[in-house]
Amino acid sequence: MPVHPEQLPDELLFGAGYAVIRPRCHKKLERFRDQLLIETKAKSIDQLRYRLVSTSNAELNEIMLQLLSFTEASGMLAEAFSEHICALCGNEIFLQRRANVIMNLPGANQRHQWPHYELMSGISPSTYAIWLPLHDLLDDGGMFYITDKESFGVMQKEHDRGTVNSPYMFNSVLNQQVPKLEFGEALIFNPFVIHGNVEFNSVLARVAVSFRFQSRSDPLYQKNSDFFKTWVLESCESDSR
Ligand SMILES: [Fe+2]
Repeated sequence: MPVHPEQLPDELLFGAGYAVIRPRCHKKLERFRDQLLIETKAKSIDQLRYRLVSTSNAELNEIMLQLLSFTEASGMLAEAFSEHICALCGNEIFLQRRANVIMNLPGANQRHQWPHYELMSGISPSTYAIWLPLHDLLDDGGMFYITDKESFGVMQKEHDRGTVNSPYMFNSVLNQQVPKLEFGEALIFNPFVIHGNVEFNSVLARVAVSFRFQSRSDPLYQKNSDFFKTWVLESCESDSR
């Protein structure tokens, strides 16, 4: 059930730590996807997904390199979700300079994201992330998330054991349910919730995108100073800060 912008701060700070949201303007999201298809020379998202299944790793890397020139991506996405971002951060934000386009192939032994939380890679503790598939995602090819409370429990156990990213952590999040999402729905999450994806079976690849942001009024504890750019959201009805 998508969370309303007004409920979002409570949900991310004191609730599960993650939530499903829908953009204020679906058309902006469609424009983003159309632009991505132009950049990848694909006629439709399913044609791109089909093509990716028979693509070599070298060709996949080539597509990823082509996408480096798609520098408007994170701004387009932030404007699509401006209502939720404003509710959390106000309209003046640090926005990830390059959105991550993530292409995952079906089947065993394909690369996928191990369980992790964003803070692990030097992301600021005030940063939120939005992840969304660029097509309906009704199989098990999505991302799983465990709640804030469960995530802290796993971290505490790791701390007690003196380990980081140990088999204990991997085993503690096995067999998680993956939320089914329609195109337009996204997962937003804080930097403490553990998430990852698993092998999936499908005739099509999964194409998703993620980007990160934080308020400009929060301290920037970010490892890499080139990671963000400044951004002022065009419309911000829910500006509560
Ligand atoms: Fe992540």
